[in-house]
Amino acid sequence: MDEAVLKIGDREISLPVIVGTEGEVAIDTNKLRGQTGIVTHDKGFANTAEALSSVTFLDGEKGILRYRGYPIEQIADSASFLEVSYLCLYGELPTSAQYEEFVDDINHHTLVREDMKHLYEAFPTDAHPMQMLASAVSALATFYPDALDPTDEKAIDISAKRLIAKMITLVAWGYKYGLSQPFQYPRNDLDYTSNFLHMMFSYPTEGYQVDPVISKALDVLLNLHADHEQNCSTSTVRMVGSSQANLFSSVASGIHALSGPLHGGANQQVVVMLDEIIKGGGDVEQFIAKAKDKDDPFRLMGFGHRVYKNFDPRARIIKSYAGDVLDKLGKDDPMLDVAKQLEEVALSDEYFAERKLYPNVDFYSGIIYKAMGFPVDLFTVLFAIGRLPGWIAQWKEMRFDPTTRIGRPRQIYVGEAERKFISMDQR
Ligand code: SDX
Repeated sequence: MDEAVLKIGDREISLPVIVGTEGEVAIDTNKLRGQTGIVTHDKGFANTAEALSSVTFLDGEKGILRYRGYPIEQIADSASFLEVSYLCLYGELPTSAQYEEFVDDINHHTLVREDMKHLYEAFPTDAHPMQMLASAVSALATFYPDALDPTDEKAIDISAKRLIAKMITLVAWGYKYGLSQPFQYPRNDLDYTSNFLHMMFSYPTEGYQVDPVISKALDVLLNLHADHEQNCSTSTVRMVGSSQANLFSSVASGIHALSGPLHGGANQQVVVMLDEIIKGGGDVEQFIAKAKDKDDPFRLMGFGHRVYKNFDPRARIIKSYAGDVLDKLGKDDPMLDVAKQLEEVALSDEYFAERKLYPNVDFYSGIIYKAMGFPVDLFTVLFAIGRLPGWIAQWKEMRFDPTTRIGRPRQIYVGEAERKFISMDQR
């Protein structure tokens, strides 16, 4: 198939067709308006592929997710998060020498300038961690202005490593600030995820032993969130970057997009919902009924997906991990049983079946985060740490694509026709 013929009124035009690696087909409308003066309308871009991307492939009907060709099931718990980050950023799994150099680079960027601490002091101590993180990432452009040029590959590489390295420090500092506890500094003798746990949960007054079960489970969860093609926050990062805004500003915009409860904010809402079900006596049917009631704005959080019309492969992996992590931590959380019960009832209900609504990545992740000791309002921040390599990889892909143009969708005007101005005294 190499062309599509579009019939508009008595005119017919042929448009080229693009076929992807896995046989996905797109009608290339880049010249549509120039040839016909006509544009397409596509709410939420559900039918529009703005990007030709090599980072992630996902098939929503078959529940397939691959980073740079590697199935998520094969790499989720076989590679470290920095290995997966390297894969996203550079397109290949690192050799041991490449990995060692990358880890060393990251380690030597985890420290944050001391004067950045004043930024946190400006926040109320109950500030939401996502808002603090977005501000801190944005502020990196002021504290590290020397490598911001979005057209300079070396500068981009430095800023990318700075961002991945400092993200965990910034998150941990925000957490400690909220508790009015002293900030902990990164330790280069620890791996990335253990370093994060150290900065989050250790005190200057006593030693802290990172639990390898938690560190490993967190590594897997971060891997599962690393990229997800053109989701809301990634599309935002690409859009902002298309104006040649720097990487820090672009990613800060993505963090704001991710904070919405329909996107990354859902993992926090799932735990709130499960808690409500437990407090209400465990009646999952009542919540299923609310989710189905068109007059009720309530949605079953952690369920449904713009693209997956089958099981989200990440949800499958996290679900199997949840029981394992809770057992290893010797924790028994009734939330897991309620979640499984809710899933079972929903998946056997016509409403969810006909709309192909399945658990998504957020449905079980919060239960594990909670067992690890993270507060609920930090769950979406953990999603952001995981998604960072994907944001950067997609931003780089857009930046290095010679055909990239500043993002500027069209519209169809449906407002008032032209009319004459009336002075105030005549109105
Ligand atoms: C993420 O894009 C990505 O890749 C995102 C993500 C990533 O890794 O980046 O995967 C991460 O954001 C996962 C999604 C997290 N959000 C939630 O769990 C919030 C709850 N889910 C929904 O609000 C909803 O399913 C969305 C936002 C995820 C998807 O919304 P869509 O594609 O716009 O779906 P829709 O609104 O068109 O719904 C279709 C129908 C509607 O009913 P009808 O009008 O046809 O009668 O399904 C219903 C919706 O009302 N529906 C739900 C529902 N989700 C959709 N009904 C009840 N509960 C739900 N969760």
